[in-house]
Amino acid sequence: MLSFVSAKEIAEKWNISQRRVAILCAEGRIEGAMMVGNMWIIPSTASKPDDKRLSKTAEQEKNTLKPFVKWVGGKGQLVDVLLDTMQATGRTYTKYCEPMIGGGALLFSLLAKNQFKEVYISDTNEELINSFLVIRDNVDMLIEKLQEMQTTFLPMNDNGRKYYYYQARDKFNSLKITHETALEKASLFIFLNKTCFNGLYRVNKSGQFNVPMGAYKNPTICDEINLRNVSKALQNVTIVCGDYTLCQNFVDNDTFVYIDPPYRPISETSSFTAYNTDCFDDKEQIRLAEFIEKISQKGANILLSNSDPKNNNPDDNFFDDLYKGYNIERVSAVRAINSNSQKRGKIKELIIYN
Ligand SMILES: C[S@@+](CC[C@H](N)C(=O)[O-])C[C@H]1O[C@@H](n2cnc3c(N)ncnc32)[C@H](O)[C@@H]1O
Repeated sequence: MLSFVSAKEIAEKWNISQRRVAILCAEGRIEGAMMVGNMWIIPSTASKPDDKRLSKTAEQEKNTLKPFVKWVGGKGQLVDVLLDTMQATGRTYTKYCEPMIGGGALLFSLLAKNQFKEVYISDTNEELINSFLVIRDNVDMLIEKLQEMQTTFLPMNDNGRKYYYYQARDKFNSLKITHETALEKASLFIFLNKTCFNGLYRVNKSGQFNVPMGAYKNPTICDEINLRNVSKALQNVTIVCGDYTLCQNFVDNDTFVYIDPPYRPISETSSFTAYNTDCFDDKEQIRLAEFIEKISQKGANILLSNSDPKNNNPDDNFFDDLYKGYNIERVSAVRAINSNSQKRGKIKELIIYN
């Protein structure tokens, strides 16, 4: 005899929300589903329908793998140079480590090639790391939340959007990351990243996210295909919240390490290092250089990028002195985020490797 289960039970089994189950039932996509009173019941043997919300072709799906957030200092435009430098070592590595992951521009172009057996990423920004974890482990529910936000937010007028944005920001600031709130925090984090001014992540002294709303007309809040691809690509990746030094035990002579620290400010007024309440000052740059020397001695291949202080002061030899004995190259890049758009322009970035 056919047995039935509730929408709640099937939602748990398929790892989707009850609301999604109700939509699938209403669309006639679950064979044998019936409305009893005001509740759907579903044959216990029903199989989960394919997700038709995915509209792009399989080929496009396969090719999309990119950062799921915009990130200050994101290395999208330097990826080719970084890959070339990596290739020039003439070696293949089984392990990859990126302990200051940010948006992960290089990580995702490497994961697309699927060449590593083990991958380790970390960052001190716990909201960012929480989002990486939720995408890896709970992408269906995350997509639902983001789609809900997208369909609510986009049709609103300016005032409606403003109200919605600042409510979301307050909610984000009021919640601590716990097992129960992880999903909601990740969805709010991604929503804010996609709709705030320039995709900045900036917090005040008490750690409250304080970036105002941006002026995007039609922001993609839920890039479903990319989120699914990111989730797949992250399945075997070790994701750690904490200081870069925690990667020490992972790193060996078969590891390629890419480190992209917060910029040393290129001008007095620049606040590029304000990712979180800790500042990445010269003392921090020196601590990092000491760590790099330590893992370099373990035989790891290391690639580091940084802003070039010579952009502002040709006599500033800070990194040239700090990384004496390493290879140092200077490449051109466009400074991506500056609150004064007039000041965006070509600058030199440092590529340092052993
Ligand atoms: C320039 S961003 C990295 C950008 C990244 N390469 C990309 O493509 O988006 C630097 C990152 O280092 C992180 N960070 C700062 N101090 C850190 C520390 N002590 N250990 C690990 N990560 C840290 C910041 O939170 C930030 O996400």
